[in-house]
Amino acid sequence: MTSLVPNPGIMSIAPYVGGKSVAPGLAHAIKLSSNETPLGPSPRAREAYLAAVDDLALYPDGGCRALREGLAATHGLDPDRIVCGNGSDDILALLAQAYVLPGDEVLYSQYGFVVYKQVALANSAKPVAVREVNFAADVDALLAAVTEKTKIVYLANPNNPTGSFLTASEVRRFHEALPTHILLVLDAAYAEYVDEAEYEPGGRLVDASENVVMTRTFSKIYGLAALRLGWSYCSVPVADVLGRIRGPFNVNAPAQAAGLAALQDKAFLDKAVAYNREWRTWLLQEISSLNLRVTPSVANFVLIHFDQKPGRSAADADAFLLGRGLILRRLEAYGLPDCLRLSVGREEDNRAVVAALKEFVHI
Ligand SMILES: Cc1ncc(COP(=O)(O)O)c(C=O)c1O
Repeated sequence: MTSLVPNPGIMSIAPYVGGKSVAPGLAHAIKLSSNETPLGPSPRAREAYLAAVDDLALYPDGGCRALREGLAATHGLDPDRIVCGNGSDDILALLAQAYVLPGDEVLYSQYGFVVYKQVALANSAKPVAVREVNFAADVDALLAAVTEKTKIVYLANPNNPTGSFLTASEVRRFHEALPTHILLVLDAAYAEYVDEAEYEPGGRLVDASENVVMTRTFSKIYGLAALRLGWSYCSVPVADVLGRIRGPFNVNAPAQAAGLAALQDKAFLDKAVAYNREWRTWLLQEISSLNLRVTPSVANFVLIHFDQKPGRSAADADAFLLGRGLILRRLEAYGLPDCLRLSVGREEDNRAVVAALKEFVHI
């Protein structure tokens, strides 16, 4: 037996399990379990990635200057307050490392992204999941859960795996009532997909306050998940803190180059947004017409609810779909064992899922 004892909390972490990518017995499965884009990255990002091969012997720019300036120009932000990360996961973890002490509390909504719980436990803090209403974060419940030990609130907006979102005014109301020594992290990994006029990813709130951070990613609509590229927009003191604790070269050079090129291909982004809108709408309509409940989604995935009856459950549906090579996401880890999450896929894959679900409900 080892005499090495990890810090309290660490052994309570359920290691992150990504979406399955193989269906037993089938050579070609269709993976719709990780909210990846079916369109891939912009061809310009691909070219930039390939061109970066010539400089593999060199360290990357540890400060990601060109990328931060590109992000600032694209989103109308201050480049000096952008901090990039090895995926946005990197930043979510750094924030907990920076602001949470053992015994502190980290808040997130009931079905919030699983990484929040993990980063709390990794820092010996107490993860506090706050009940949702209709599969959406509830500002009043979150405020009621704040204690003198609360240090960070992580709010995925839109949320994964529910696809729900909070309006800008709800987020503002929450922030106004939150003590200023508590950090509000607005995780806007799916921001680009949202059409709703009342939505705001968080940049304006960051500009107006010291205790708000917005995190974003190139893993979703930009199709660069493999490169691990995320970023955050922070107040001056938070950017300073992250700059001190992040790895000196936490973002690799091909990722920086591809990310910048992806940002510059606005036409590709617009196409990806329109594609997702069309197929998300189609999936929501088709699935609800099968008498399956599906939570309205503003992101690139939908949450499908199943009965608990034997033969009709989410586990049964999952097995049925897997038998046809269709991989959706099981959600036990989120406390949603009666649901499956489906990412918007290629047209033929979306059609295949709906056809298989139709068969499943009619068995
Ligand atoms: C809500 C949310 N935040 C953050 C992430 C992490 O993204 P990244 O690939 O940038 O680490 C994900 C990925 O699934 C997510 O769903």
